[in-house]
Amino acid sequence: MKDIRIGIAGVGGRGRRLSEAIRSSGTGRVVAFADPEPRSREAAARLVESARPFDDWREMLDSTELDILVVSAPQHLHAEMTEAGIQRGLDIYCEKPLAPNLHDCDRIVEAVRTSDSTFYVGLQMRTMPLYRKVHDLIEQGAIGQPRLVVYREMRGPFLPKVENWLADEAKSGGALVEKNCHHFDLFNWLTASRANRLFALGGRAITSGDGNPGTLLDHALVLVEYASDAQACLEICFFSPVPTHELEVVGDMGRIVASQKTVYYYPRRSASPADGNPGQSWTFPYASAHGDDDAWADFMNARAIRPAREQSLARALAAHESVRLGLAAEESVRSHSVVHLD
Ligand SMILES: NC(=O)c1ccc[n+]([C@@H]2O[C@H](COP(=O)([O-])OP(=O)(O)OC[C@H]3O[C@@H](n4cnc5c(N)ncnc54)[C@H](O)[C@@H]3O)[C@@H](O)[C@H]2O)c1
Repeated sequence: MKDIRIGIAGVGGRGRRLSEAIRSSGTGRVVAFADPEPRSREAAARLVESARPFDDWREMLDSTELDILVVSAPQHLHAEMTEAGIQRGLDIYCEKPLAPNLHDCDRIVEAVRTSDSTFYVGLQMRTMPLYRKVHDLIEQGAIGQPRLVVYREMRGPFLPKVENWLADEAKSGGALVEKNCHHFDLFNWLTASRANRLFALGGRAITSGDGNPGTLLDHALVLVEYASDAQACLEICFFSPVPTHELEVVGDMGRIVASQKTVYYYPRRSASPADGNPGQSWTFPYASAHGDDDAWADFMNARAIRPAREQSLARALAAHESVRLGLAAEESVRSHSVVHLD
């Protein structure tokens, strides 16, 4: 089997998590990594002992033979790293969010559009078994046309980031981009439609002493209207004492609830309103319901299919759209007004 050589740009929390996913998948070998922060490099060296460490990602690209570049530095660096990797003919696994602003998102889309590299974005709600099941049910017509999508995430504060880059909204795009690009991507994927307009309310309730990395939004309600007439609602809170992840999709023919690790399906006509029992349910181990190793496997499968251009471009555009919604939500909170997305 061909040796697949992987370089990682940015080995903070996420880069190291990905190096573990790569190792456990057995689908490639991390031969180099780059990070200007010595503590990140030291922690990565313990995970991938044989890989060559660099403090400069450009030097890594110039002096190492690679097949794949993993872009897991903060998102204000994603565009330049992706462009450079694609120019060298590498396949790219880029972490979400695609970038913190639309200009950088456009740069990435253009680089992908004009190359044959496989491009993938780590928007792993699409590959989690729990949400795949929901998507499959919708595709099979189980609920008819999705009309209402609601996601509620109650969680604790963000994990600390190296040099607290998250607090700088020019680098992160803000909380609703950094975290909720995942949920906006999920809404876009499940409705198979394009958002027309959006309204958001949000606030800052906790201070840095309580875990807010700076002055980021730490709770919000976001309403999204789709061209298909579907409507979506995101409820997000970063200071919940206990975590909750709940997705609900209601269509003209039924209802699906994905709560914690179980998907419940209630067909409209045979549901028993008296006892509320679902028609069917599927339970996944918690780690696979909310873990994210499947994204790496999905990338490697995508990479095996050539030519990759059309699918790569579709992934880049979908990631672009998820950032567009996140930025619009931030703007709506600031302006207290509806943001039109067309
Ligand atoms: N898919 C997911 O669910 C998920 C989860 C967490 C983070 N992420 C994304 O992964 C990226 C990294 O997040 P994180 O949690 O690892 O942050 P982190 O702060 O833990 O790590 C970022 C690392 O990038 C390094 N870095 C900074 N400038 C660099 C440069 N010029 N070259 C190379 N490395 C550089 C930092 O020194 C640090 O080690 C972000 O885009 C984040 O949004 C995605």
